Amino acid sequence: MPDSSIPAIERAVAAVPLAELGTDLAGAGATIAVAPAGGRPEVIVTLGFPAAGLREALERDVAAAIRQATGADARVQVGWKVLARAPQGNLDLLPGVRNVIAVASGKGGVGKSTTAVNLALALAREGAKVGILDADVYGPSQPLMLGLSGSQPESRDGKTFEPLVAHGLEVISVGFLVDEAAPVIWRGPMVTQAISQLTFQTNWHDLDYLVVDLPPGTGDTQLTLSQKVPVAGVVIVTTPQQVAMQVARRGLRMFEKVGVPVLGVIENMSTFACPECGHEESLFGTGGGESLAAECGIPMLGHVPINAAIRAQTDAGRPPVIAEPEGLAATRYRQIARRTAAALARRPAAQKHKFPKIVVEDRG
Ligand SMILES: Nc1ncnc2c1ncn2[C@@H]1O[C@H](COP(=O)(O)OP(=O)(O)O)[C@@H](O)[C@H]1O
Ligand SMILES: [Mg+2]
Repeated sequence: MPDSSIPAIERAVAAVPLAELGTDLAGAGATIAVAPAGGRPEVIVTLGFPAAGLREALERDVAAAIRQATGADARVQVGWKVLARAPQGNLDLLPGVRNVIAVASGKGGVGKSTTAVNLALALAREGAKVGILDADVYGPSQPLMLGLSGSQPESRDGKTFEPLVAHGLEVISVGFLVDEAAPVIWRGPMVTQAISQLTFQTNWHDLDYLVVDLPPGTGDTQLTLSQKVPVAGVVIVTTPQQVAMQVARRGLRMFEKVGVPVLGVIENMSTFACPECGHEESLFGTGGGESLAAECGIPMLGHVPINAAIRAQTDAGRPPVIAEPEGLAATRYRQIARRTAAALARRPAAQKHKFPKIVVEDRG
């Protein structure tokens, strides 16, 4: 007679592999609740990250593992709950935002903004509430990439902004406030002020993740972000070339120095995926992202191919995660989103007293 006790079921569930994360449910920090319900055990698995793309397969895998180990025919439900993770230093959390994820790179033109917007959309598709903050005061690209060029955020109280909404994301960009085409020649204090205003004077609404699209390098914006904004983690975007990696390494070190956790590396424009036959070819060499990740002891979050459709769709305001949700690019971005969110979920939780107080105004 196989052992179908609750602990035996729990053990079987804990060992179910999550192949794309290189771990099992226990290793991913999932909570497992088993209750006997009229002869048929009821199993609820709660992940710390959104995983709509994995849910069905995972429910099947869990049920199969229980059947195999214990003989029981369980009813299985997989869900998630995203908690706030501790940011750098002792900073208070941003009101309305559980986790700030910064997207950084050493060099410009590596596809940081493209990665940021698709990562944000992919996190949303996976089941999270997501916003994006375009912090590139020198070259804001999110208004264009989200089809919001020429729009302006409203202010209800003359002090704070309501974020715009595109494809379900809350969006704020310096591009809404200054002419997108005008070259911005702001220096240190103005950049700091602009970034602080966009971050702290936007009414974010209960977001699991706020993705921040940074300008390239290690300048005033990065400094402001690392000193003032509670960042739960940063992802580094690089291309496979040696030179891009070397600069990416500098960026990575800067975040490490100020105590912002580096969640991993995304390699963009990794391969050329032939739209005719699907064959992938490495135009710029291989292993760049891997060697950067290995050398710095951080995870490789994934590879995105170079593909004319990614550029065309993103520039048209409908990035591939929206325009072609079943395509190769969207599939990669969603896997990257799950890995990023899973890496964040393994970080220590934010301290309770660091949650901003919610003030209920009496408007009567
Ligand atoms: N994987 C990709 N395949 C094809 N084009 C891409 C890809 N990633 C980015 N691009 C294009 O490269 C250009 C630079 O990308 P962008 O995201 O603006 O870079 P960054 O923010 O790092 O300066 C844009 O025209 C974008 O559409
Ligand atoms: Mg950019």
